Formats: sequence, C-alpha cells, structure tokens
Amino acid sequence: MKWNPEDYARNSDAQLKWARELRQNLSLQGNESVLDVGCGDGKITADFAVTLVDGRVVGVDSSPEMIAYATRAYGAEQFPNLAFACVDARALHFEDEFDLCFSNAALHWVEDHLAVLRGIGRSLHPQGRLIISCGGQGNAAEVLQVFAELISREPWQRYFDDFRNPYFFYGTQDYATWLHQAGFQINRLELVPKTMTHVGQAGLAGWIRTTWMPFTEQVPEVERDRFIADFTETYLTQSPLDQQGFAQVRMVRLEVDAVHRQNP
Ligand SMILES: C[S@@+](CC[C@H](N)C(=O)[O-])C[C@H]1O[C@@H](n2cnc3c(N)ncnc32)[C@H](O)[C@@H]1O
Repeated sequence: MKWNPEDYARNSDAQLKWARELRQNLSLQGNESVLDVGCGDGKITADFAVTLVDGRVVGVDSSPEMIAYATRAYGAEQFPNLAFACVDARALHFEDEFDLCFSNAALHWVEDHLAVLRGIGRSLHPQGRLIISCGGQGNAAEVLQVFAELISREPWQRYFDDFRNPYFFYGTQDYATWLHQAGFQINRLELVPKTMTHVGQAGLAGWIRTTWMPFTEQVPEVERDRFIADFTETYLTQSPLDQQGFAQVRMVRLEVDAVHRQNP
C-alpha cells in the first residue's frame, strides 16, 4: 500500500487539529526530546520542532514516500532540531533517548502493539511519557458499514474476493494488558468518541482517497474515482451534510497517557 504524501498533506486538517488538541495538555518546557511514531507527512513533527526551541524531535514512519516528503518539506536548514527516519513502529531501535513518545492517527495500522510498546519503552528515558491517539474499538463504524455495503454488490464486489480488513481498532482491556507488559504505568486510557468533520462531499472524498487506501486500492485506478464517489454519495444519503455543509463522521479514538517505569 502506497501513501501519497502530497495528497495526504492537503487532506489531513482533521488529524492535525486532533494532534494539536493532544499537545495542548502536555505542558512542554521546550527542552524535551520527542519521538513521533507514524509521523506521516511530518507536519505534526515539525510543529513539535517549533515548540522545542532547546529540544529535538525525531519522526519515524514505515512509508518511504512519507519520510521522503517530510524530509524535503521540513529540511534541516529551517528545522535543525528535527530529523526523520524510515522505521517500522514494531522495530524501533532507539535506546533511552526520549522524554516523550507521541503518536497520532497511526497505530491502528499496526497489529502487534506489544512489540510497538516494548520498542517505545526502550526508546524512552526512565519516567518518559507516552501519548497515543489512534482508532479504537468502534471507530468509524458508519464508514465501515458503507464500505461493507459497496463491496458486497457489483460493480465493486468482484475486486474484493481476497479482501481482509487491515485496521486494528483495539479496546482498553487489551491495551491495559500490553501497557503493563511493556513496563508502563497508566495515567489515562480511554475510548473517546469524536466527530471528524470534512468540508462537503469533496472533503469527505479527499479523506477517503488519502487514508482508506486498503479499500480504494482494491479497485483499478481507472475506476477508483467512481468508487470513491459511490462511497461519498451513499454515505451522505445516510448521514447528510450539516447546515454549514460539513460531512460528519463519528470516530472513536483510543487515547493513552502513560509513564514508562521499567523495561520488563
Ligand atoms: C494517517 S497517517 C498519520 C500521520 C500523522 N501522524 C498525522 O497524524 O497526520 C498514518 C501513518 O502511519 C504510518 N504507519 C502505518 N503503519 C506503520 C508502521 N508499522 N510503522 C510506522 N508507521 C506506520 C503510515 O505510513 C502513515 O504515514
């Protein structure tokens, strides 16, 4: 699956807004070292770099396209305290380097969270803090429902014979177990319902095109825009635009605030 960083950068205001909301509660001093896991196009990582005038931030992501884009867009000349690296979240190689690990809208793409959390634990200083927000149990239920409808009928069904849902929307019970196994003390762990808004049908289509590729890429490129239009029309028939013209999507975020106590 290939990410399109330019298109993602243009269609991810909602993710940026949520990341900024999370950051507001962090009370950063400006001298911390931060690891951003699943940093994507790098704009949230660069936001940290601006705040951390005496600190530094490293963004890692498994997509070479995203990392190439982030490195170009937020270069060392303008951001000397910022670095990017193409690394899988399940294979973090840092040792005792960071005060804070942050991850927004990324980890629901990963099945093995215990491996991720163990790697984050090793990467953090003792008492280092972990902040995660990702899709959690019940996330985007209406979106998944509309996809289920579309792919069970022609002309789309033929492209989904071998389809397997690639998202991992975990609940708090599983997550509490993994956090403890990885040596974290939990400050807050909850499933938080949040509404995501997109500007009109075009905004909804932009979000589907740039983050729901496991579905859209099953369809041949020549028919993909039609598939996305079919999705947005069906979705908006069931959940119409609001009076201001926004498409609303009910999401559920798994939010984690934890402190690393020890490497097991
Ligand atoms: C929706 S983007 C989020 C990017 C950014 N954090 C944001 O909030 O805008 C999800 C990112 O997770 C990354 N990702 C997915 N699986 C990953 C893995 N196993 N390791 C590291 N990054 C991963 C993708 O490559 C993608 O860049």
